Amino acid sequence: MCEVKKLQKNQPAVSASWAMQNYPSARDAERSLLIDKAPLTHGCRVVDIQAAGGYLADGVYQKLEGDVDLICIEPTKALNERLSSNYQVVEDNIEHWKSIESKSVDVVLGLAGLHHSNNQQATIDEAYRVLKQGGCCVICDVMQGSSVALWLNDYVHNNSSDGHVGSFLQPQQLSIMMKNTGFNDVQESLEAVPWKFQEQSDVARFFKGLFSLQTTQQEIQEAVPRYLKITSKGDITEVSWELIYGVGYKPLT
Ligand SMILES: C[S@@+](CC[C@H](N)C(=O)[O-])C[C@H]1O[C@@H](n2cnc3c(N)ncnc32)[C@H](O)[C@@H]1O
Repeated sequence: MCEVKKLQKNQPAVSASWAMQNYPSARDAERSLLIDKAPLTHGCRVVDIQAAGGYLADGVYQKLEGDVDLICIEPTKALNERLSSNYQVVEDNIEHWKSIESKSVDVVLGLAGLHHSNNQQATIDEAYRVLKQGGCCVICDVMQGSSVALWLNDYVHNNSSDGHVGSFLQPQQLSIMMKNTGFNDVQESLEAVPWKFQEQSDVARFFKGLFSLQTTQQEIQEAVPRYLKITSKGDITEVSWELIYGVGYKPLT
């Protein structure tokens, strides 16, 4: 294990593109749950906050068979270059979406990125501003103090090329931020959304790529169980993963 790095804001980490390409269904549970919680209809206009390479946007595009107007906010060029040409790419920072008009969007989605916002309330306020009356915002992210939080801010931070410093969510924090800005019918829940793999050895390979880890696959294979629970369910290997999900609606009037 290399020397312990100080926890300070770092460059956006850029995952290896092959990680999601080679293991496209590993994170399906967390993405499907987010999509299922959103009122997605054909022809709707959707914002994906911190879209990275488009994993969430691709899921929405598939669900609506391409009949969707997708706006992907991704300021990191090395990531937004991976986005499909079917999507509109916006490079605004996630605290201020100056390229997106007010009251112009039906659904705002955020998959596991809010922890990199320098002002989470401002990001949620922007979601509210761009939504039409009656629009919906669904966001999920890591819970403070959880095993996932420790994996990211300890192991990934100390063993990846750019480090990882996330400001994770306290329980109810997401609801409070949504209510602060005016969302109604706010629902919040902590959900188990395990990552799934065909082979146990896939876990270390996927983690190495997704988190740009500098350690060997052998070292990662030994490290993961110190943070996350690995269980075999039939032919599937599951890695424990849990996220807080928040849903809120913009009032109709
Ligand atoms: C946390 S992941 C989430 C990506 C995507 N929603 C998904 O689920 O695959 C990557 C996102 O966080 C941003 N990011 C990563 N590291 C960051 C950092 N150190 N500072 C700010 N943003 C960062 C990236 O620009 C990207 O939008």
